[in-house]
Amino acid sequence: MSTAETPVSMDIRDGIAVITMDSPPVNALGHAVRAGLMGALEQAEGDQGVNAVVIRGGGRCFSGGADIREFGQPPAAPTLRELCARIEDFPKIVVAALHSTAFGGGLEVPLSCHYRVADATAQVALPEVKLGIVPGSGGTQRLPRIIGAKRALKVILSGDPFAADAAHDLGIVDEIISGDLTDGAVAYAKKLVADGAGLRKVRDLSVADADPEVFAEMRKTWERRSRGLLAPLACIDCVEIAATKPFDEGMAAERDIFVKCRDSEQSKAQRHLFFAEREAAKVKDVPKDTQKRPINNAAIVGCGTMGGGIAMCFANAGIPVTVLETSDEALKAGMAKVEKNYAATVSKGRLSQDTMDTRMGLISGVTEYADIGSADIVVEAVFEEMDLKKDIFGKLDAVMKPGAILATNTSTLDVDEIASSTKRPEDVIGTHFFSPANVMKLMENVRGKETAKDVIATVMALGKKIEKIPVLVGNCDGFVGNRMYHRYTRQAYFLLEEGALPAQVDKVFTDFGFAMGPMAVGDLAGLDVSYLVRQRQVKNKKPGERWPVAADRVFEAGRKGQKNMMGWYKYEEGSRKPIPDPEVQKIIEAVSAELGIERREITDQEIHERCFYALINEGAKILDEGMAQRASDIDTIWINGYGFPVAKGGPMFHADQVGAAHVYERLAHWAKVASPLLEPAPLLEKLARTGGTFADI
Ligand code: NAI
Repeated sequence: MSTAETPVSMDIRDGIAVITMDSPPVNALGHAVRAGLMGALEQAEGDQGVNAVVIRGGGRCFSGGADIREFGQPPAAPTLRELCARIEDFPKIVVAALHSTAFGGGLEVPLSCHYRVADATAQVALPEVKLGIVPGSGGTQRLPRIIGAKRALKVILSGDPFAADAAHDLGIVDEIISGDLTDGAVAYAKKLVADGAGLRKVRDLSVADADPEVFAEMRKTWERRSRGLLAPLACIDCVEIAATKPFDEGMAAERDIFVKCRDSEQSKAQRHLFFAEREAAKVKDVPKDTQKRPINNAAIVGCGTMGGGIAMCFANAGIPVTVLETSDEALKAGMAKVEKNYAATVSKGRLSQDTMDTRMGLISGVTEYADIGSADIVVEAVFEEMDLKKDIFGKLDAVMKPGAILATNTSTLDVDEIASSTKRPEDVIGTHFFSPANVMKLMENVRGKETAKDVIATVMALGKKIEKIPVLVGNCDGFVGNRMYHRYTRQAYFLLEEGALPAQVDKVFTDFGFAMGPMAVGDLAGLDVSYLVRQRQVKNKKPGERWPVAADRVFEAGRKGQKNMMGWYKYEEGSRKPIPDPEVQKIIEAVSAELGIERREITDQEIHERCFYALINEGAKILDEGMAQRASDIDTIWINGYGFPVAKGGPMFHADQVGAAHVYERLAHWAKVASPLLEPAPLLEKLARTGGTFADI
């Protein structure tokens, strides 16, 4: 029997002690579970009738891992490490029986057992690297001893789950049980005893594939890939130590490295993001049990860059999708792009031809509106023009069946105005995907003033189904992501006119951890795109408001970015490497002269503060206006849609780290001396005054 105090029970079957963890929902390895397991082991050791032990999880899974509520608290004995050591040194055979998840600490316990069996539902993972830490209870020391250094690095560095079969192939699981797991595990343990199998103590095994080259190679790859994140490299260090040092020394080193990672700013940022992403799925005024509309098929209007990518998202999730284009030729061209996209993935070996065929088979093309009328959801992805979108929504209103969701992929336009061209604005919502839509995780869902709650619930759930990270935002120009983006690119443009050059601005961004700065991003997306956005925005320009003239001039000089190999930079044939161009410098300097601005030395600090703090300032306004539900939603958007460095946790988390007072004070300074647009937002001022944080509002 288990009780609330000891959520671990034991019963003895045929000489085998079956120890069951029973701590819903996921058998987190909190203190009570650890103590319970220790107690049960004690009992099993003393019981002459017990020949071997099986450890299993009751309920939903084996174990989801350490209890995150204990994170940051001083460890209470027995710690997970002590528990693992006790299991490993246990004088009778211990078999772990895994079903469903065995993640993190929930895998480190099985790794310390002498044998592991699993049923077909089992999934194992060491996801710690995703939280900026290394597995801290012997995972990095035991896994390489069980499956070799190379395979262990694969598991630890990916952080991803491996299904039962894969875990068996890797050697993590000794045997897959096809019938009842507990019966199978007991039979397995009995056989081990009968066969006289020894206690296979993992600590005594040596590490296979421990060639120094393996580690050198991995470091080279991950130094590039991890972009400033320390945990992947720390994981490699730990596995190398496992391969080269005695077990106890390795365990001590793992502990030191774990603590260093755990206490780092970046791990805090990664843990923040982990929770932020989960929180983002919740909509405050839409109850969890809101009845969702069924989505069994979809339609897309416009099969261009975005429409094609969005169609792929549906097909990848097994949802049949019909794309509508203006003509047979346009349709053919759009479908050819989709096909080419899939084929590229197949040729890289990341998708099988069969899967590609299945997915292509789910995408069909039409040119008549009548042919999409029965879709459960339609996503419009035509050119960014209000009149065109309104015309299309009028047509959709006429043909779509009652209850169909009418979504727009607009990146900036007013969703309510689009909805006004229908008689069912409650069915209209924005689903803002990012480019390339089949790759980028973010889905910014835009709630119009009449959007129905069940439409919101359906689209948020759909986002998850098509493996996106959905975040709900309000309807304002540029919504959350692009609205903020325009704020800092504007400062970047001004800085150019005041004395900086594109490469200097971009370097401040890459030094901060972005893969690219705003100038290089502009060239990648096409300078025509941002020019068009500004053409629209200029209509709302207030009298006396400063305009980014240099940005317009660079485009007007025929520079479209990478597409014609000249933008803010120049490019060589076949290369995407930005090369500073004296021609651009001339254009910028001419604009400075024309505007009567005396060019001056611009420090990196000024670029940093004017760009990043502008971002934070706009985030504060967005929160104040209720356009985002919470500060962490803004972080989720910026990490998954705009390449904000993971190590910094998103703009609002970063603001809390440097302190609202500091951000406020610097913005007030720059507003006075350089750009009135940087006037601190009232919410920022309030936080600065009260010592509050964005996390707490
Ligand atoms: P695109 O120019 O690549 O594709 C637009 C497609 O719509 C073309 O294939 C065109 O033939 C088709 N089309 C035009 N009028 C049509 C009509 N009346 N009926 C059916 N099809 C029609 O444009 P892109 O880049 O795919 O953008 C589409 C939408 O997605 C825009 O609203 C844009 O703001 C938004 N968006 C674009 C992003 C990007 O990075 N390109 C990112 C996020 C959103």
